[in-house]
Amino acid sequence: MSDSKKMSGSGEIPFRNPGWAGNTGEFDLTEEQVRGLEYVSTRPTDGGHPAASATYPYMLTERTPDASLFQGPYLERYEKIRSRFPTAQGALLPTLNLAQEVRGHVSSDTMREVAALLGLSDAYVRGVASFYTMYNKREVGRFLIQVCTNISCNLCGGDEVLAAFLKHLGTEMGETTPDGLFTVTEVECLAACGTPTAVQINSRYFENVTPDDVPALLERLRSEVG
Ligand code: FES
Repeated sequence: MSDSKKMSGSGEIPFRNPGWAGNTGEFDLTEEQVRGLEYVSTRPTDGGHPAASATYPYMLTERTPDASLFQGPYLERYEKIRSRFPTAQGALLPTLNLAQEVRGHVSSDTMREVAALLGLSDAYVRGVASFYTMYNKREVGRFLIQVCTNISCNLCGGDEVLAAFLKHLGTEMGETTPDGLFTVTEVECLAACGTPTAVQINSRYFENVTPDDVPALLERLRSEVG
């Protein structure tokens, strides 16, 4: 009999979602907060999706490119991740996620370390990590601003929104501002085609963004870091 069945028989609340990783993080958030349920039916003024899809915090932890993989609470999280998967291959994506959370990007050295940790070949890890654009292959600012310029957003001014971010920050695409705060990139569909232009900033979505919104949005982001 499973643990959850045993517990429900004893009158305790069943442990229904042991696989959810958010409760092991340093943010101490409830599952409701991470999933954004408080935002259902209301469009939050500070970004985030109005539906019950994930509305994450900005994930503004300090990143340390030279940090060890993994120590302290990160080691606990890695061990928890590894324990959930019968194979090392299965644990690769969340392990790379954790490495990126610690270091801010997944360099070639990080790929090799993750390969050694999981007992996989360097080539396998490199193949997976380089397939997914969500893994930053080089350092990015504390706010990674990803502007969708795919078809729906493009028809509704995605290119202009992208240009506005670059103009107001004075950077080229993929370049980080001297203060280390912002990196702007162009991405394919963010699956928010009904509310173009969609912009993803770290883990948070902003929708219906226009070029005129950009200065205030950047100001709001600066205020997040004081
Ligand atoms: S085209 Fe921009 S979110 Fe789909």
